[in-house]
Amino acid sequence: MVAAVNSQGNHQAVLLREALESLNIHPSGNYIDATFGRGGHSLAILQQLNEKGRLIAFDQDPEAVAFARQKFKDEPRFTIVHCNFNRVADVIEQYGRTEKIDGVLMDLGVSSPQLDDAARGFSFLRSGPLDMRMDTSQGETARHWLARVKTADLIRVLKKYGEEKFARRIATAIVETRNEREIIETGDLAEIIANAIPVKEKHKHPATRSFQAIRIYLNEELQAIEQGLTGAASVLAKGGRLSVISFHSLEDRIVKRFMRNISSRPKLPAGLPVMEADIEVPYRQVGKSIIAGKEELGINPRARSARLRVLERRL
Ligand SMILES: C[S@@+](CC[C@H](N)C(=O)[O-])C[C@H]1O[C@@H](n2cnc3c(N)ncnc32)[C@H](O)[C@@H]1O
Repeated sequence: MVAAVNSQGNHQAVLLREALESLNIHPSGNYIDATFGRGGHSLAILQQLNEKGRLIAFDQDPEAVAFARQKFKDEPRFTIVHCNFNRVADVIEQYGRTEKIDGVLMDLGVSSPQLDDAARGFSFLRSGPLDMRMDTSQGETARHWLARVKTADLIRVLKKYGEEKFARRIATAIVETRNEREIIETGDLAEIIANAIPVKEKHKHPATRSFQAIRIYLNEELQAIEQGLTGAASVLAKGGRLSVISFHSLEDRIVKRFMRNISSRPKLPAGLPVMEADIEVPYRQVGKSIIAGKEELGINPRARSARLRVLERRL
């Protein structure tokens, strides 16, 4: 999710100190930043590595990849890959580093530059073309999807990925409008949604949930997180850490469930000559989840929904 924009206009990394500590960085280790963004976390990780240390960063957004190539062009310890992190295990295998990775960071969602750039079509505050794709080199834009989606499917998406209680009213309003004229701009869509909602929430723009829902659906974010978590855990070395920052309950629910399941003893069928307690579990959860402290919230109120969870590979 978004964070503040610092004095250079870049994304201000969320839970930076906590994320670094949770990775327990070895200066000559191998690390992955699975969500490069504008490199706030990547830079901080690199600052803790010596000349033998290595960082491989991923981002599915071509703009983030171009920024990384420019920012770290003279940095031999750094590699950027234009790729969805749901393919992390395949890519790391190609680099010959499977089970050699000391830490993976995932900072989920969209970055400030993606939200603040109206041309990306993520924002209901700055009107721009209805795109909402993280990876603009492929996939369907929100404009094209909204021009063809069935009302029932739109209702399902708004409910499932936005937890929007006025999903039916909003979907009906969108479909009625698009049957008369095409919806092209985010500002237009935000207005249609706002007019369809009978009761407005204080301190929350009426289009927030719908925009989140359409974005998550078009970018298949939740499926990618499930696959990315499995892949990231599989490439860890013994003692390696997976640190994940989520920003809303849908993301955090997946992370929490994944970490709980992978660090639990398997239930054994009765009668087996093995005690469950004797089964060594290859992963453990590290401490409780971490949220932003007063100081960070003072600088960056948007960090209020950030939650960091950490997993360690034991075997
Ligand atoms: C919240 S930002 C990360 C900000 C970064 N930690 C920083 O300090 O600048 C998330 C970034 O991850 C990318 N991203 C989100 N989901 C992704 C996925 N499934 N695969 C690859 N990149 C993804 C987005 O394009 C965005 O640039």
